[in-house]
Amino acid sequence: MCGIVCYIGNKPAKQILLEGLKRLEYRGYDSAGLAVQDGKKISWQRAVGKIAELERRVNGMDMKGTSGIAHTRWATHGEPTEENAHPQVDPEQNVFVIHNGIIENYHTLKRKLEKKGVEFRSETDTEVLAHLIAMNFEGDLSQAVRNTMLQVEGTFGIGVMHRQTPGELVVARRGSPLIIGVSDVGHFVASDVAAMVRYTDQVVHLQENELARVTADGFTISTVQAKFVERTTETVEWQAEDAELNGFPHFMLKEIYEQTMTIKNALRGRLEPGEGVPKLGGIIPVWERLMACRHMVIVACGTSYFAGCVGRYIFEKLTEIDVEVELASEFRYRKLNFPPNTFIIAISQSGETADTLAAIREAKRKGASLLGIVNVVGSSISRETDAGIYNHAGPEIGVASTKNFTSQLVILVLLALLLGRHQKLSLTEGVEVIRELESLPVKLSKVLAQANHIEAIAQKYHKCNNWLFLGRKYNYPIAMEGALKLKEISYIHAEGYAAGEMKHGPIALINPQMPTVAIIPEDEMYEKMISNIHEIKSRKGPVIAIAVEGDQKLKGLADEVIEVPRVIDILNPILAVVACQLLAYYCAKFLHRDIDKPRNLAKSVTVE
Ligand code: F6R
Repeated sequence: MCGIVCYIGNKPAKQILLEGLKRLEYRGYDSAGLAVQDGKKISWQRAVGKIAELERRVNGMDMKGTSGIAHTRWATHGEPTEENAHPQVDPEQNVFVIHNGIIENYHTLKRKLEKKGVEFRSETDTEVLAHLIAMNFEGDLSQAVRNTMLQVEGTFGIGVMHRQTPGELVVARRGSPLIIGVSDVGHFVASDVAAMVRYTDQVVHLQENELARVTADGFTISTVQAKFVERTTETVEWQAEDAELNGFPHFMLKEIYEQTMTIKNALRGRLEPGEGVPKLGGIIPVWERLMACRHMVIVACGTSYFAGCVGRYIFEKLTEIDVEVELASEFRYRKLNFPPNTFIIAISQSGETADTLAAIREAKRKGASLLGIVNVVGSSISRETDAGIYNHAGPEIGVASTKNFTSQLVILVLLALLLGRHQKLSLTEGVEVIRELESLPVKLSKVLAQANHIEAIAQKYHKCNNWLFLGRKYNYPIAMEGALKLKEISYIHAEGYAAGEMKHGPIALINPQMPTVAIIPEDEMYEKMISNIHEIKSRKGPVIAIAVEGDQKLKGLADEVIEVPRVIDILNPILAVVACQLLAYYCAKFLHRDIDKPRNLAKSVTVE
């Protein structure tokens, strides 16, 4: 949540910061601000609303200087007002701070500061940081930030500038990611590489409780205890054009279309067709332990959780391992008691989701081994797990997750297949799964080819205020994911249900204004799904079926049919969900929603 970008170098900072903010806007977008330093002068501006509003305000301003800090906000403490936007400053306007995260002891600190006569001008927790750094400053900004870090509890990624110390920025992290970028125009620090990929692919990840002093020519990293740390740069695999629209009207649509490629990326170098066994280099460090594992718990949030729910069925089919799936936000508060050799699999696109991170930390404390399925290389979850598998899906800018969901599913299949081949699966069965995985990109492009048909369905039904999504087995989680996609970007109320549960309640809602999206592949659940559809039709509910190509029975029964190519059962969700993504996208488009930045949501939920 929230986005940070800082720059210090040889170019005017204003434009670079605005450009960085626009690339980070998907992380939070209710208000924004920036400050630019020129010697001992700091010019700054904040604005409510999108970055475009901030840009409009600073365009007329004389903001010279080649260093600065900028922030796009997703409000936690205090409403999205100009006063609550970042940077936050001390009363003398010496210290300028931008902050991601939450200062948990902010009430106590604020009370103490108020007793000393400090007047607060905002409702933010961040403002205490500005006051504390100002009070702790005795000429050395890094030391002032260190001392402040020792006083605050909670999570933060901060960028700090001081009027008395031009030519340097100090940044620090605890719980919120910060990445230093090294380029030939100077140095960047951002919460996300998207802000700097245009200038550099050379980055350094700041680690927990570290701070960095950054200048135009270099940077030093030290711990909160002032111990200096050497760290070499890493190359990021993201390209500048990954963060561009490239002719698409929205990132979400672009990312839906990218799935033919991202599935190939998730498979690349990982298949051994002749042996029917995938190769997953990332899990080699825990291979012995994995072979002994008979119990796994998948933890995740939101869309990643639904990938985990599909994963449970896949593991059941391909392995002898018992798998549970838990929402990370619940799991972290459970009384945990694991059988020996338990593995926790954390699934997270961002690798920074606070609940998922807290869940794996708790599980580690209780002796479980940890595996991550993560997209963002170098993210907290990727570093805190014992081993892991990267999605290689590239940056996902649309707030609603799409391409990462399908790559998470592909990786779960690969992992289950690998373990299953050492347990119960024959060579022939392994070869078949690999062959079907390889066929996915072409089959997925056939789903994408129906975009116009899906758009026409959306045009017909987008004014319906309530929708039901039904599926069974592998596609029960797809019903939940389909409903989530529709509600988050179109604000239509939608429920995802296991079709067998329909008679236990939701059937009461069925009427001609409530469409049901039924996911109905030709599997062992087919006849039961057909019965559900009859029940809906007898109550005059419209049915949009996501069925297998050439299904004649459904053509006469459902009001609309979206066809997906035939594929083995465990892979059907990967095709069915793309139809759901397109349906949600087009409904949101007809309703004129802000598709890439839906209200109240932000990418990467780094607070509980
Ligand atoms: C929905 C969506 C969220 C995320 C959830 C977990 O479209 O994007 O539900 O899936 O916040 O995020 P990650 O996967 O980054 O842990």
